[in-house]
Amino acid sequence: MKRLLNFLAIFSLGAMICISCTKEGPQGAPGEDGIDGTDGTAGCIQCHTNNENMRIKSTEWAVSGHVTGGHMGGSTYASRDGCTDCHSSQGYQLAVMGSWDNTPADKPLSANCYTCHQIHETYTSDDWAFRTPDGGMPFLTNGETSDQGSSNTCIVCHQSRVAEPILDLASSDNVSITSSRYGPHHGPQGNMIAGMGLSGAYELSGTMNYVNSTHATDASCITCHMASGAGSGGNYELGGHSNNVAVGSWDDDSREVNVNGCIACHSEFTDNDGITAFVAGARATNLGLIDDLQQELIALGYVDEDGDVVASGGSPLVVSQAHAAAIYNFKFITEDKSILIHNPKYAKALIQNSIEALQ
Ligand code: HEC
Ligand code: HEC
Ligand code: HEC
Ligand code: HEC
Ligand code: HEC
Ligand code: HEC
Repeated sequence: MKRLLNFLAIFSLGAMICISCTKEGPQGAPGEDGIDGTDGTAGCIQCHTNNENMRIKSTEWAVSGHVTGGHMGGSTYASRDGCTDCHSSQGYQLAVMGSWDNTPADKPLSANCYTCHQIHETYTSDDWAFRTPDGGMPFLTNGETSDQGSSNTCIVCHQSRVAEPILDLASSDNVSITSSRYGPHHGPQGNMIAGMGLSGAYELSGTMNYVNSTHATDASCITCHMASGAGSGGNYELGGHSNNVAVGSWDDDSREVNVNGCIACHSEFTDNDGITAFVAGARATNLGLIDDLQQELIALGYVDEDGDVVASGGSPLVVSQAHAAAIYNFKFITEDKSILIHNPKYAKALIQNSIEALQ
């Protein structure tokens, strides 16, 4: 009922605005009742129609990790200075205008339709446009810009944060790491897809060359994570606005990858089972590679079994620039969470060359 009253209030506002603009502009055709102003809803019904399309998107979004994960909106993360930039809707709307380290809004909201889209700015379907500037925004960590098309809307949040100390591979001075959380923070996927020369990871020299995989050059977040969900039917869990490329767990064999995001290139796989088995195989190999690097870091006393850096304010870790770079690269790769799949060739070079720098 409250929603209906709200709607009627905004609806009549829309009609009033329209009546007053007809003084300047050309008049709309009179309605059947002879009153001008039918155009007042013409914009609204480009979106608010009876086809339930918006309702479907909302239902998908409701099962997204953004809503269910507990780290957005009402969480403490949304209410902390700076954190709010990517952990609330209002923070994000300031961040896309180039303002970072914002103070939290009074009532921080989870990301929602208004966050990414310009809802109710012009009251026409143009408002599906994104808030991110054309061409993308510079990364926080190195000022480089990676234009990932519509996925620019994702990578404002899914990017590395600045990690202190910033390293200089040309310097022979040691650096001091003072936090067990040293690294790029939790969502550096945008940087991983940007890859070569842009990622902000430290491209140590070694036996492997840095090249980007096809996933990074010819696909984007949206290709894989927002393709329509194969077989997700009435639970909306896969693809679309759920943003889920896969659901279920690897641990109990219930994981299911959405083949629709992959089929354009991996045409040999026609259903979720096929692509899921392919991903499982790559994961097994890649987890081994990540472990090789972690074991080197553990042997040197730099990280523990959980992957946390062995450092604190009271007892800093003092290492060479190259060793600190290898620690950063390890965190970058694990925080990306795709087990190298976002940009396999690039990530494998980071691992191999980091191992060589430690030996
Ligand atoms: C670009 C598409 C679009 C257009 C055009 C549009 N809306 Fe909306 N509207 C939305 C979306 C998206 C929501 C949020 C839905 C949700 O949160 O589930 C919304 C929500 C609403 C709500 C519910 C309150 C709220 O903020 O959630 C009202 C009322 C409303 N719109 C009225 C209007 C009126 C009146 C017009 C025309 C003057 C209009 N809208 C034009 C997309 C649109
Ligand atoms: C406003 C910042 C923001 C934007 C924009 C954003 N994300 Fe997120 N994303 C987050 C945060 C924060 C989380 C963690 C939420 C939680 O745990 O509660 C998250 C979680 C996720 C997850 C689930 C991760 C998991 O471990 O289950 C996926 C997948 C994801 N985002 C993909 C995307 C894609 C694709 C886009 C663009 C269409 C996008 N995100 C846009 C901030 C954002
Ligand atoms: C530049 C954007 C950005 C900023 C600023 C940011 N976060 Fe996040 N944060 C993310 C994204 C994106 C995710 C989800 C990453 C994923 O699932 O891979 C996330 C996830 C998290 C998680 C969940 C981790 C997990 O593995 O489930 C915690 C906790 C968190 N952030 C805390 C913070 C805190 C505390 C701050 C402020 C000191 C902060 N974040 C600032 C983007 C950001
Ligand atoms: C995290 C960012 C994000 C949020 C939040 C979000 N969307 Fe979207 N939306 C996208 C992206 C990205 C696309 C483009 C997908 C594509 O190209 O396939 C899109 C596309 C759409 C489209 C198609 C637009 C067109 O031009 O035809 C509609 C409709 C839509 N979203 C509705 C919604 C609704 C309703 C909500 C709230 C429940 C919502 N979106 C929330 C990112 C978002
Ligand atoms: C080529 C397809 C592809 C592209 C492009 C892609 N992803 Fe992924 N993403 C995956 C796969 C596959 C996984 C791993 C799923 C698994 O292990 O089950 C994954 C994992 C993730 C995860 C960890 C949570 C989860 O659901 O497993 C997040 C968060 C994520 N991607 C966000 C992004 C963002 C943000 C972008 C764009 C910067 C992006 N991805 C681009 C395919 C892709
Ligand atoms: C734009 C084309 C394209 C799309 C879309 C695409 N892939 Fe790929 N994928 C490739 C190519 C080409 C390779 C091998 C060469 C390379 O690494 O560049 C590859 C390699 C892989 C690998 C091997 C990774 C490794 O560690 O070597 C996996 C797993 C994979 N893809 C899974 C997926 C999944 C899952 C999706 C959909 C969610 C997907 N791909 C979407 C083109 C694509």
